[in-house]
Parts: sequence; C-alpha cells; structure tokens
Amino acid sequence: MNELKKYFAVIGNPIHHSLSPQIHAAFAKESEIDMSYEAVLSPLDQFQDTVKKLITQKFTGVNVTLPFKKEAYALASTHSNQAKIAEAVNTLEFKDNQIIGHNTDGIGLVRDLEQNLHVKLANQKILLIGAGGAAEGVIYSMLEKEPSELTLTNRTIEKSNAIQNKMHAYAKNFNVNLNVIEIQKLPHHYFDVIINATSTSLIDADLGIDNKVFHAKCLAYDMMYGKETSFIKEAKSQGSKTSDGLGMLVEQAAEAFFIWHQVKPQTKPVINLLRKV
Ligand code: ATR
Repeated sequence: MNELKKYFAVIGNPIHHSLSPQIHAAFAKESEIDMSYEAVLSPLDQFQDTVKKLITQKFTGVNVTLPFKKEAYALASTHSNQAKIAEAVNTLEFKDNQIIGHNTDGIGLVRDLEQNLHVKLANQKILLIGAGGAAEGVIYSMLEKEPSELTLTNRTIEKSNAIQNKMHAYAKNFNVNLNVIEIQKLPHHYFDVIINATSTSLIDADLGIDNKVFHAKCLAYDMMYGKETSFIKEAKSQGSKTSDGLGMLVEQAAEAFFIWHQVKPQTKPVINLLRKV
C-alpha cells in the first residue's frame, strides 16, 4: 500500500450498477488527490464485518448504499446532525479510532434543485412521495430551506404520519406547514415541486397518483436515474418540467468528498459527463 494514497469505497448489495467510483475518480482527478475508490459488494448479513475489514486495511472512509444505510447508522459511534435526524447514514469517516456517520443525501437533493435546476425551495409548496429511507433522508434539508409547505404522502399513509410526528418540531422551527395527505386525495395543480422518493421506479410500478396533480408550472423530480420512469412520463404528459436524480447523486458524492478531503469539487462537468455516458 502506498502510504500517502488514501483508500475509499462504496458498500452495497447489489453494487455493480454504482456510479460512485466514476464520480469520485473524476473529483480526485480534478482536485489532484491521490486516492482510490472501489465498489465493494457486502453479503447482506455481513455489513459490519465488511466495514471493519476495510478499517483494518486503513481505508479513510466509505459511502454506504442500499440496503445498508440503517445499519451504517447503527454502526457509527458519532453522527452528524443530518444523520441523527434521518437515522440513516450514507457516508462513513474513519478518524481517530471513531466511526463517524454522515448523511449527505438531503444536501445533495437540495443542491441539485437549487443550484443545478435553479428551483429555490423557499416559500414553495412541495410534495414528497414516499416514506422509506430515501424520503426520510432528505426531509430535514428541505425544511431548512423554509418552503411554505411540505406535504408528505405514501401508499402506506401511517408511515407518513409517523414521519410527520417525528419532524413536527423541526418544521415548526423553520415555520414550515408539514402536512400529510393520502395519495388519492392530493389537490390538483397545486404543488410547485413534486418529488418521487419511492422505489416504484425500480420495479416500474404505478404510484397511483392522479396526473392532474402535475401541471405546466411545476417541477417533477424523481430521485431515480438512468431511465425515464412512469412518474416522469406522467409529469411530462401534463407539461411539467422534469428531472431525474443524477444531479442529486453527484451532489451527495461531492458533499462526501468534502467531508473526507475538505475540498469542494466541481459537479457540473461530472453530471454532464455521466449524462453523455
Ligand atoms: P428506500 O430506502 O429506497 O426509501 P424503502 O425504505 O423500502 O426504500 O421505501 C420504499 C418506498 O417506496 C416506500 O415509501 C414504499 O411505500 P410503502 O411504505 O407503502 O411500502 C414505496 N413503494 C414501494 N413499492 C411501491 C409501490 N408498488 N407502490 C407505491 N409505493 C411503493
């Protein structure tokens, strides 16, 4: 092992699809940092052992993707605020014999919306569909931007209610009206930004959302990337602006890169490069 070189990885299952090695390699090249970043497939029941092995091999940090974000939270000895609130971790830092857990997903989403897509969230009415880890991971970052309203909806509405209860105090702090509405009862032509944080796009299942929820002045954002989902197709059919989650992926990676290297990489060239591929 080269003593000066730093070692990183992304751990998931499956992991072969991950673009993170390419993204971090591009950041490292631009920043002239000597590092390696590999994709590591962890057996489903061996996440802890996989991380500990990398620590003994002197890795500096890892990203964590599905399905291990909750386990990474449990494994971390200290947590950033974002990770504590989301109870999920996508970035681990191994420092001073500690395992520090961060969650950069929310920052990634907000930066993609505001800086890349030029959609400011302040005073906007936002709809977030989904109540799993992906949804929960981004709520605090959205509240921080002080939209006028954040409405949660999900197939299993009890899960949205639970998140609303958990996030109520933060919403009050930021003066955001945090609601829950059943998916079949969503108002038409009302929301400015509609975000799909469900995993339906993975299996191409129908969300059961009335397409009149979309309209020409809203942005429909799917956290998935790599294919045009039925959510995006429906939004387009109503004349909405749309985006997939590729920008979010690159922005969350940039924040992880910053945590590890204290360097903010350029994200636009990497997003453009991946779009071409
Ligand atoms: P993730 O970490 O990707 O968020 P998750 O925690 O399993 O994964 O959450 C998946 C989300 O997608 C949930 O909001 C789930 O809805 P339920 O809470 O009702 O399960 C949603 N989802 C998955 N398949 C769905 C489907 N066929 N129709 C509607 N929502 C679906």
